[in-house]
Amino acid sequence: MYTELSALLQKPRLYEKTTSKFWNDPHISAGMLKTHLDPNTDAASRKPETIRRSAHWISSLIPCGAALMDIGCGPGLYTRQFAECGLRVTGMDFSERSIAWAREHDAASTYLVQDYLEMDFDSAFGIITLVWCDYGALVPEDRTNLLRRVRKALKPGGLFLFDVFTPRRYDTFEEETSWEICEDGGFWSPRPYLCLSVKYCYENHIGVWRYVIVEDDTSRSYNIWDTGFTREDLSEELAVQGFSPLAFYSDAEGGAYDAASSTLCAIMKKTER
Ligand SMILES: C[S@@+](CC[C@H](N)C(=O)[O-])C[C@H]1O[C@@H](n2cnc3c(N)ncnc32)[C@H](O)[C@@H]1O
Repeated sequence: MYTELSALLQKPRLYEKTTSKFWNDPHISAGMLKTHLDPNTDAASRKPETIRRSAHWISSLIPCGAALMDIGCGPGLYTRQFAECGLRVTGMDFSERSIAWAREHDAASTYLVQDYLEMDFDSAFGIITLVWCDYGALVPEDRTNLLRRVRKALKPGGLFLFDVFTPRRYDTFEEETSWEICEDGGFWSPRPYLCLSVKYCYENHIGVWRYVIVEDDTSRSYNIWDTGFTREDLSEELAVQGFSPLAFYSDAEGGAYDAASSTLCAIMKKTER
């Protein structure tokens, strides 16, 4: 037991991925949907007023009637508003539960249950969005894969708009450990469990939140990665995949770029090769 648990709590190799389902796990996705829809927390989706400002700002960047795809759209809190702003909207997420909720509340948009790391469209969209800092949660090979797919899915000159955390987030980042006993089950499982969590920091503004869930007869772990990016980091990483920076903002609501901000929103344009 000691050997197994202490091994599970070791600092993982940089960008080591875990295989336990998270967003699309049937139990976790139920709690996650509740969190998405809770207007008082920014934990899974931003608060309603922020989403409203953000959806209106993003819609103002492109002509009415343009085709927009929101990847990792969750329960469609943005997509619904993009559609109300006159865009032709597709929402994609691999959480069946979130997409079912989105479909129920928005008949105007098209919703797809799909892993965006496997999507395959050709010149179909004028703009693709990925909001709530999900780009930085991907490991480098998945970012490369995603950028290839996004580029292929965009029309010539199309835009990729996404937000990330910046290195500022890591100014106060401290490694820490904590644990929680959930006798009646909880976020991670419907059964009684112990959750051991560790936050580790790496060079270049990279962090991992590692959760080890111990149940009566099993244990499993989840690595949730985050990479902080500067404008220069993003410009360099996306240039290799055929994008050039059009503009940077401090957030996905169109706030003016501010070097002190802990978030950064990039609008990248598909370049011709
Ligand atoms: C932090 S939530 C943000 C949801 C939504 N963008 C919002 O801000 O309300 C991340 C979403 O991305 C989805 N997601 C994560 N990885 C995905 C993947 N590879 N393919 C499709 N959806 C994914 C999750 O299911 C979740 O709904």
